[in-house]
Amino acid sequence: MRSLTCLLIILMISSCGVREEKATQREESLKKEYLQKGGEIVNLSQSELLKNVSIATKTGGPGYAIDFCNLRAMEIKDSLSRLNNCQIQRIALKYRNPLDKPQSKKEEDLLRQYQLTVQRGDSIKPEVYVLEDRIEYYQPIFINKGACLICHGVPGTQVTDETLEKIMARYPNDLATGFSMNDFRGAWKITFMK
Ligand code: HEC
Repeated sequence: MRSLTCLLIILMISSCGVREEKATQREESLKKEYLQKGGEIVNLSQSELLKNVSIATKTGGPGYAIDFCNLRAMEIKDSLSRLNNCQIQRIALKYRNPLDKPQSKKEEDLLRQYQLTVQRGDSIKPEVYVLEDRIEYYQPIFINKGACLICHGVPGTQVTDETLEKIMARYPNDLATGFSMNDFRGAWKITFMK
């Protein structure tokens, strides 16, 4: 009798282990899947935004592009969000649009962590969090083109007075100038509901 109880207990414990292992495997495969999905959506959004900024800059200079970005950046994110059944956001500690300010402690911690890692000289990568009702994908953004500095570089030299005036008119509390090439700028956040 005792050995039967023992056997049952052993069986129960080991089946628990198997279940946990399966759950971890499932989480790992979800992470892999969403790492790819998130990356694709970011590529799409990034190229759509860049295309629009560069056309607008060519059409009417950086000042015009700022007004244009203010209207279009949100629209582009919204329509791509609907198309891909997710929510596309950009978040930054030094934000320009107050809507891109981190909305939770988790977002703020993650951005600080990315920032610290970059300051230490280590590389940062996209991350996926599998939560109860949703999956969150984060991908770091860098100042990776000289053109970014026209609107995010040093005021007075890289950002002309005229451009700065436009920025301040649209975003009176702007924090997003003074960046240099290769600086950490913020992150894409893509949320998929389960
Ligand atoms: C023509 C000016 C201009 C150029 C060039 C430009 N940006 Fe911006 N950027 C803006 C404006 C304006 C916003 C605010 C958009 C909004 O209202 O959603 C912004 C917002 C952002 C944000 C969102 C976070 C925040 O601060 O609100 C990131 C990230 C960003 N820019 C990165 C970049 C990078 C990287 C480049 C170069 C590839 C770049 N920008 C080039 C004008 C510019």
